[in-house]
Amino acid sequence: MKVICTEKSQILATSLARALKTTVVEVKYSRFPDGEQYLITGELDEQTIIVGSVVDNDALVQLILMVDACDSSENLLVVPYMGYARQDKRFLPGEPVSARAVAQVLSRGVSEIITVNIHEKEVLNYFGVPARNISLAPDIGDYIGALNLSNPLILAPDEGALVFAEEVASAGGWDFDHLEKTRLSGVEVKMAPKQLCAASRSVVIVDDIISTGGTIATASEMLYQQGAKDVFAACVHGVLTGGAFVRLIAAGVRDVICSDTLERANSKISAANRIALTLKMPDYNKKFR
Ligand code: R5P
Repeated sequence: MKVICTEKSQILATSLARALKTTVVEVKYSRFPDGEQYLITGELDEQTIIVGSVVDNDALVQLILMVDACDSSENLLVVPYMGYARQDKRFLPGEPVSARAVAQVLSRGVSEIITVNIHEKEVLNYFGVPARNISLAPDIGDYIGALNLSNPLILAPDEGALVFAEEVASAGGWDFDHLEKTRLSGVEVKMAPKQLCAASRSVVIVDDIISTGGTIATASEMLYQQGAKDVFAACVHGVLTGGAFVRLIAAGVRDVICSDTLERANSKISAANRIALTLKMPDYNKKFR
């Protein structure tokens, strides 16, 4: 079984193909004069693993076209970053449930879906086919372990990320805690001090997504005021919009660690092995070898 991918998931897809000892199908892309996307795939097997993160609208359209081009309802779809997952409810009358709309479109023409640290697990129920989510928390934990920090404190920026922080911390038996976050606007957040003392400690703030960087920048500044020795940031999905990286470094963050669900220069952790391990599990074995 071969792997195929959209343009913005090439590196992860190639690592996945290597881990599965298979190859990546070549695809030719172009655009019609009006800007509409076109693609044509190389030769496919009966079943294909399609890999595409919903990084932006172009990537979403390309993924929809690719699923259609692969044209077998036996295919597996891997969506490393499921964009639009944050609008998972109708918060105000007249709003779309964007996560459901995107999930339903992506379900047409595949037999199963895998996501990586999807923002809300409930979104899995919106797919029209069986969907499972895998977590890179152990991989982030391993990466932090390799940094050889002395007695690091793993912090979630809000209570919602506490389980994730606990999973990361379990890799090294480290302390973990969460901050109290109140979102003031799209880019501004307010942080209340945490219970555990950060003084003289290396702190790693972990979250599923870093978008504008506002959450972690605010947390970093507060932690330094409390006497933290140094602050690191680690996330699965480095959306890093609007100068987020610069903002984080300006707030004293020593390093920003992301995975390759979104392919960035600072994608230091690959989701490939974790996805490959999932595909080698007994319930996948028969179909996606
Ligand atoms: C929110 O619930 C997410 O888990 C992240 O905390 C959020 O997306 C981070 O956003 P930003 O980097 O813009 O503060």
